[in-house]
Amino acid sequence: MKVHDVIDENFEELALLESLDMGSPITRTQSFRKFVLQGIMYFASQTMNCMGQTIPNSLPGRFTTMTLKAPVGVVGGIIPWNGPLMSQWWVIGAALATGCTAVIKPAEDASLTVLRTAELLIQAGVPEGVVNVVTGLGSEAGAALAAHPGVDRIAFTGSTATGREIIKASAVNMKRLQLELGGKSPDVIFADADLDKAVPGAAMAVFSNTGQVCYAGTRLFVQRSIQEAFVERLVEFGKSLKVGDPLDPSTQLGPLISERQLERVMGYVSIGGNEGASLAAGGNRLQGDLAGGYFIEPTIFSNVSNSMTIAREEIFGPVISVIPFDDADEALRLANDTEYGLGGAVWTSSVKTMTKMMHGIKAGTVWVNCYGLVDPAVGFGGYKHSGYGWKGGPQHVEGFLYQKSVCINED
Ligand code: NAI
Ligand code: MG
Repeated sequence: MKVHDVIDENFEELALLESLDMGSPITRTQSFRKFVLQGIMYFASQTMNCMGQTIPNSLPGRFTTMTLKAPVGVVGGIIPWNGPLMSQWWVIGAALATGCTAVIKPAEDASLTVLRTAELLIQAGVPEGVVNVVTGLGSEAGAALAAHPGVDRIAFTGSTATGREIIKASAVNMKRLQLELGGKSPDVIFADADLDKAVPGAAMAVFSNTGQVCYAGTRLFVQRSIQEAFVERLVEFGKSLKVGDPLDPSTQLGPLISERQLERVMGYVSIGGNEGASLAAGGNRLQGDLAGGYFIEPTIFSNVSNSMTIAREEIFGPVISVIPFDDADEALRLANDTEYGLGGAVWTSSVKTMTKMMHGIKAGTVWVNCYGLVDPAVGFGGYKHSGYGWKGGPQHVEGFLYQKSVCINED
């Protein structure tokens, strides 16, 4: 709870550092105050929830049997660059709640928020050595942490490819793993949806943070009868977004994190065109005052087929692929035709359609008539190649604990 207060007092500075370091708009980073603080309070509350059970037994004689919980030990937290201000707390919060220690390896592209947070933890009274930060490249510092025999658990968020490397490295000492990996989440709009909500909802499900969000709703399935009108409104919404200097309070979308990421995203834009998708909006790097930065227009492809590369691979940029469908059966089949399973959404006014999609979409989170909301007490996780190990909720905290059974001979 002291950590909560110190982070609250210093949040403006942390938000500014995050915007400077990774380019997310200042109004966006400032808006995370409540989520971060509630997350810290949630983990603080979980310190009182780390308990075992006394369990009756059928052993021959007089025995008391129970279970105890113990910290798993040293947790390595490998954090991506798309939002360390928030994502570091999944590791720090749970480590502090369970009595573990942590070694955090922030991404080489965005380490400042994590470094400053570590200083603030000391200020809040967390003993030195409990939360440690090691900066460096993934292939060096990250790989060393993943392979280190003194590390008992890795909590990783990032690409599926790196997740696979971490699984291999973990074999050396049977490290416990929590992996939150890539996504290609389906966002399904039915003709009976409230389109005044669905248009901005579906647009920001991808454009938010310039598309650099693990559960971005990048495959936008739109019922064929409304496809044309929907795309028109989506384009209009995309064009209304102000892309620019992250420190300008009127900016809605900042740049991509790096030149490498810009090249990746632009590469996918040209693949989309080459594979026959129609470019309905955007697709260009911004010129003029913004030419020196990694700015790209909000981009919308329509008439995409689910088998195209832009519908199969995680782009991690502001690129929407609109894929038409006819009915709920087809929408579900296409939505699940992916190797990922992180998020998904349905927009409809029909309970029947909603429940069909809610049960049918193979993903760790399904949003209904909204997108991207996450609560620390509810949590989220992945199906398939999007990883395993729930983030948030009591299961998250469980992952930082060993369970031990105790058998006491009373005679
Ligand atoms: P990445 O998964 O390689 O990097 C994430 C973190 O892992 C960073 O801290 C990095 O230093 C570390 N890392 C890299 N290689 C490692 C290794 N061998 N062992 C241990 N740690 C390692 O992601 P990257 O290369 O920055 O971005 C590439 C693509 O990955 C993006 O375009 C995006 O599609 C995806 N990505 C997905 C994220 C998500 O939240 N789902 C977050 C970041 C990237
Ligand atoms: Mg990488």
